[in-house]
Amino acid sequence: MYPLQRNRRLRGSESIRALVREYQLSTDDFLAPVFVENGKGKKTEIPSMPGYYRYSLDVLPQEINALWQLGIKGVLVFVKEKEALKDNTGAAAIAPDGLMQRAIKTIKNTQPQMLVLTDVALDPYSSYGHDGIVVDGKIVNDPTVELLAQMAATHIEAGADGVAPSDMMDGRVLKIRQCFEANGWDNALIMSYSAKYASSFYGPFRDALDSAPGFGDKKTYQMDFANQKEALVEAKRDLDEGADIIMVKPGLAYLDIVSQLAQNIAAPIAVYQVSGEYAMLKAAAKYGWLDHQPVMLEQLVAFKRAGAAIIATYHAKEAAQLIGG
Ligand code: PBG
Repeated sequence: MYPLQRNRRLRGSESIRALVREYQLSTDDFLAPVFVENGKGKKTEIPSMPGYYRYSLDVLPQEINALWQLGIKGVLVFVKEKEALKDNTGAAAIAPDGLMQRAIKTIKNTQPQMLVLTDVALDPYSSYGHDGIVVDGKIVNDPTVELLAQMAATHIEAGADGVAPSDMMDGRVLKIRQCFEANGWDNALIMSYSAKYASSFYGPFRDALDSAPGFGDKKTYQMDFANQKEALVEAKRDLDEGADIIMVKPGLAYLDIVSQLAQNIAAPIAVYQVSGEYAMLKAAAKYGWLDHQPVMLEQLVAFKRAGAAIIATYHAKEAAQLIGG
């Protein structure tokens, strides 16, 4: 009770603040999303994601080395596929010499210790821009899941450490895990996008991969953003099906979900600070309306406070440069 207790004592200097600080950011926390495209000598800036690029395979090693030198030990790989290769069967997604499969090899040849997790969903390969196979205007679950397991297998075969299914089909974690076990890949990781919401924050990402849905939206498979309990159901199910890491996406608008899962799920929780979150901060900074660096760090620490063990973020490199390895 005042004056015996004064809360400001623990805030009096940076030394005491540092001593009692509860959460520290570290480069160990980060996964850096990496965008890959076809062609040669390409480093293409994504207009709605200033300072973020897609790389062709010959340029990719430089970026991987830069990330590794900054202390970032894991990447989440995404590819932008050629329009001509998109179809409704996922042929380009499961090709052993597909862009993703070659990207995995390139990264592993560059930095064998870099943890490679790959995006598993059909949207970058789909002529409809949907995460699954489309039949009569509907995204069909079970045939999609079969295909996703095949796709995941080609990623592990190419040398990925694990996969991150982002499609939100039912049962895909189980199918992928069974496929991995059947192949003897006991150590292949599954980081499941368990609580992935149908969000308008994904807009810039869809620009980056040219993967916006051609018709309708993703609300029949991604979660309704008005729901909280459902996240727990999804997370528990994915854990039972063999997931190792449970992810929440997007980030900042879903800290309640991160916190809920961190308290109730006995697995590491990852959060994905998505493209729209990155774009908002960059835009505000460009206008001089927000100070980029401190706002970025404040947001990243918020993820840790909420209980995230892993943060997938487009700010990984910038944050690593600030906080050191
Ligand atoms: C693909 C996928 C998306 C994102 C990650 N994987 C887009 C979507 O579901 O439409 C979004 C990432 C971001 O916005 O940064 N299924």
